[in-house]
Amino acid sequence: MLFVWGNLLKVSPDIPLQSVLQSSSQQAEEINRVTNYFFIAAGFILLVVAVLTAYVLYKFRDNKKQIPKPLSSKWEIAMIGIPTLLVAIFLYLNIKTINLVEPDHKNETPDVIITAHQWWWEASYPSSNVITANEIHLPVKKKILLKLLAADVIHDWWIPQFGNKMDMVPNQENFLWINIKKPGEYYGVCSEFCGAQHTHMRLKVVAQSEEDYQNWLLQHQQPAMNAASFGGAQLFISKTCGNCHRINGTAARGTVGPDLTHLGSRQTLLAGLLENNIQNLENWIKDPQQIKPGAYMPDFHLDDSTVKSIAVYLNSLK
Ligand code: CUA
Repeated sequence: MLFVWGNLLKVSPDIPLQSVLQSSSQQAEEINRVTNYFFIAAGFILLVVAVLTAYVLYKFRDNKKQIPKPLSSKWEIAMIGIPTLLVAIFLYLNIKTINLVEPDHKNETPDVIITAHQWWWEASYPSSNVITANEIHLPVKKKILLKLLAADVIHDWWIPQFGNKMDMVPNQENFLWINIKKPGEYYGVCSEFCGAQHTHMRLKVVAQSEEDYQNWLLQHQQPAMNAASFGGAQLFISKTCGNCHRINGTAARGTVGPDLTHLGSRQTLLAGLLENNIQNLENWIKDPQQIKPGAYMPDFHLDDSTVKSIAVYLNSLK
């Protein structure tokens, strides 16, 4: 039932669907199942109350002499018993769903550690030493454990199609299980107000078959390619970009800003704000505050040719 409503929310093929009503993970499926039961029960109760109200209004219309009799104790038992039973049933269903969606994670190694920053997402894959930002690759048809952290303030992980949200709190480790049903791209946003660029803290998950996912990991384990052949590579270091950003295989080892090792292979820049191309990279490096006011990337007042060289270099990092 809710599945159909979820499809109605798809406005145009260009706008990715972000609806809790369409479940794309096993966890979302469980949550939507219990939500459907709630809707059915609530609809049934609404119907019964509406019919009884209409009946009473009709029966006692204009009739001042006929005073309604008090209800018999049989009715009273039913009126207390049925709601109590419903509450008990839904309590049981809720606890069962919570246990299915959030099973114990103790003694489990997380597959991906995701750290929220003002205003971007860092993803690191402990088993393969890969670090990336904003576009998170995950395998499908596999139970994955995410460890969710925050570097500065409280953020909130939420990909509606994957079901529940999870707060990301400084100095606290939160965990989330996901079992994605099929390959594709899934979108979300940070859903806890976290400062000036909260709105632009978008999140993209690229769900891949196990084989594609392993290939992606292998490719991203590689250091940045033939960095030395680009003039921008030297400028990146000499202009101190590497103090904040890491490019694996080079002297750039900063961890304050997003890892840029394979920046050229991402589809978007700045947590989903802009399409990834040389022009947008140039505009961003030239005047970060113009594009993302409040962002922690300073304006280094670089001249146009330096900006261009760095942008060309970063774009080459596939
Ligand atoms: Cu991060 Cu809102």
